[in-house]
Amino acid sequence: MSERAQFVTRLGAIAATVGSAVGLGNIWRFPYEAGVNGGGAFLLIYIGCVFLVGIPVIVSEFVIGRGTHKNVAGALKQLAPGTKWHWVSYMGIAASLMILSFYSVVCGWIVEYLFQAITGNLSGHSAGEYSAMFGGFVSHPWRPVLWTVLFLCINFWVLRRGIKRGIEKVSNFMMPILFLILLVFIVYALTLPGAADGLKFLFLPDFSQISPKVAIGAMGQAFFSLSIGLSCILTYASYFKDSDPLMRNATVVAVLDTLVALLSGIMIFPVVFSFGMQPEAGPKLVFEILPNIFQQLPGGYFWSVLFFLLLFFASITSTISMSEISISFFMEEHKMSRKKATSVNTGIALVFGSLCALSFGVLSDFTIFGKTLFDLFDYASSNIMLPLGGIFFAWFVGWYVDKRFLDDQLTNFGTSTVSVWRKPLMFCIRYFAPSVIIIIFLYGLGLFDALL
Ligand code: TRP
Repeated sequence: MSERAQFVTRLGAIAATVGSAVGLGNIWRFPYEAGVNGGGAFLLIYIGCVFLVGIPVIVSEFVIGRGTHKNVAGALKQLAPGTKWHWVSYMGIAASLMILSFYSVVCGWIVEYLFQAITGNLSGHSAGEYSAMFGGFVSHPWRPVLWTVLFLCINFWVLRRGIKRGIEKVSNFMMPILFLILLVFIVYALTLPGAADGLKFLFLPDFSQISPKVAIGAMGQAFFSLSIGLSCILTYASYFKDSDPLMRNATVVAVLDTLVALLSGIMIFPVVFSFGMQPEAGPKLVFEILPNIFQQLPGGYFWSVLFFLLLFFASITSTISMSEISISFFMEEHKMSRKKATSVNTGIALVFGSLCALSFGVLSDFTIFGKTLFDLFDYASSNIMLPLGGIFFAWFVGWYVDKRFLDDQLTNFGTSTVSVWRKPLMFCIRYFAPSVIIIIFLYGLGLFDALL
């Protein structure tokens, strides 16, 4: 056990975990989800879900990962020997590879836009030209594949360097810069005329907007954004030290992740409003609308390069975390070297990522259950596998694991005092979180469609 890698510093462990959580989910998905779901009302429910469902599931994954210092399959085999519980880990591993595949496609778009921004091609167009540019790029027969492949190579390079020299170092370097870039943007966005309208949209809840659909969208967003349900956070926790405080780390991760989502909203909505654009633009918001806005600002070149660099940093610290799930599994359960495990992970993602990258062009007619491969991977992993995994981890820690084991983890082997939050936390882990997740899950399967 002694030769197994760990994050070197407590801060490094937090930077890596926050790096996993903070990603496209915060900067790209959160603003457009909030935009299409009515702003303030969505935000309110989202924050409720982060604290009442998200933190309990994070703590559950932390307990399993840090308590065993193993990959997810090894951890479940150790905690539930002789049972079939470890089969759940195979679902998590499959889902992580699916998410990695379609997520890398969007990361590929980001690298393309970063490249275009640097070479100065992102300015001097009309609004219609930006739409045509994005549409032309995503449906191009090979360009999206090229950038997806390039992104996965960078991902490979970081992972190949291992936990300390790769993941921890990159996170320590990129996360502070990411916060800094966000702050620069916000200061700028807030000085724009009309910024107040953007802030009102985001922060003033219009309670008439609250509907089951908005509530469920907010819960799904919380899951995706916190990286929970797939054993991603579990795998990182297996590299924590026995002295790292789990409850505190869980709170820090949830608070920082939510903060970045809020900061992204504070950065994007004032800009959108002050230029008279619609917040409901959906997934295209970042790629079609923002470049057009940037070019109208003084120093537009600088802003667009900075923005896509920010997205790049946020996304790579997330893809390395998804990849680490299967890498740790291949290394420990199949006795592969780190190099070989990373190659297998990247190889799978290259094949499926390339197919997903073509889903908007050559393969747009290739559908399974009426969905392109990109949409199918997104739907099956986010709406089915994440909630199922979340229920499992909360249930497993709430009801199944040995009480002594749980106590040892929550108190760091008796070295820290029992927090006043312990009781409400256990209530959420045992009852509240699983029931709420079941509701999302049923919705994900479309069972409520008739009612909404
Ligand atoms: N949380 C990341 C984001 O917001 C994405 C992510 C990383 C993720 N690891 C995950 C999502 C595991 C689900 C499961 O972009």
